[in-house]
Amino acid sequence: MTGRRCVITGATSGIGEATARALARAGAELTLVCRSPERAEATIARIQDEAPDARVDRIIADLSAQAEIRQAAAELLADPRPIHVLVNNAGVVNIRYSTTVDAIETTFAVNHLAYFLLTRLLLERIQQSPDARIVNVASDAHRFSRMDFDNLGHESDFGWIKVYGQSKLANILFTRELARRLGDGVTVNALHPGGVRTNFGANNAPRLQRVLMTLGRPFLRSPEGGADTAIWLASAPEVAGTTGEYFASRKRRSGTRASRDMEAARRLWEVSERMTGLD
Ligand SMILES: NC(=O)c1ccc[n+]([C@@H]2O[C@H](COP(=O)([O-])OP(=O)(O)OC[C@H]3O[C@@H](n4cnc5c(N)ncnc54)[C@H](OP(=O)(O)O)[C@@H]3O)[C@@H](O)[C@H]2O)c1
Repeated sequence: MTGRRCVITGATSGIGEATARALARAGAELTLVCRSPERAEATIARIQDEAPDARVDRIIADLSAQAEIRQAAAELLADPRPIHVLVNNAGVVNIRYSTTVDAIETTFAVNHLAYFLLTRLLLERIQQSPDARIVNVASDAHRFSRMDFDNLGHESDFGWIKVYGQSKLANILFTRELARRLGDGVTVNALHPGGVRTNFGANNAPRLQRVLMTLGRPFLRSPEGGADTAIWLASAPEVAGTTGEYFASRKRRSGTRASRDMEAARRLWEVSERMTGLD
């Protein structure tokens, strides 16, 4: 990865940090998009402990706020360096209904619209790089949901599994539609990292679920194991020409029928453009 620059969201813990560390060890130059300056600096210090020569910087943005995503993209584009790889990874799972400053249900805003908006704003720059890749961290939780275009926020019938699953289904549909629109050139793939021992959901899970999560921890993958497919998609020569696919454990997976519905993918693209002001 020497000579290649990777932009990674949500690199301050879990799968994103493990991905960043591995790519830095492999020689990549990194820009981390993080919401907390303190956590960003601590992550950079951990990366440089392992890879003292690594060139790593950070941009601060809360990805639940579209104005901050636009500001982050503007900062990235003001920097003349190329972008070879974009890893969209930052994500949340929320137990209760909440909305962002843009009045959008938070899970959908962070897990899908942030991937969509950041990618679209950076796309021209990414397209200028040889063997450019976009990697979207999705989840097999997409199996629990379908796209409910008339009720995306689920304000009156909120259920965290349904809402989280819908956002991860959106990751796969976005991947397939972007690949279709891009054709050859930049590749874009999605992945399921497995069940991974991270901070995910730890802050806002109900008590019973926290207990279950603690009991289940020994059976989950390490963050390094969870990051493996993302690192592979971002860097391996054997997937250089592969695009529009969904992977788990480095194997191509078909995903659910809903995740292969190209009419839903096209509709999601249009809805996302309207919701992010890109139309
Ligand atoms: N863990 C699993 O079992 C699992 C399974 C399937 C899929 N996934 C997916 O894997 C991805 C990473 O999750 P993880 O398990 O590594 O969880 P994690 O340890 O909680 O990491 C989530 C990352 O996203 C960042 N983030 C969250 N909200 C943000 C916001 N509004 N703005 C900017 N950054 C934000 C967090 O930043 P802070 O440090 O500031 O909180 C953190 O860096 C997610 O997309 C998730 O859906 C995870």
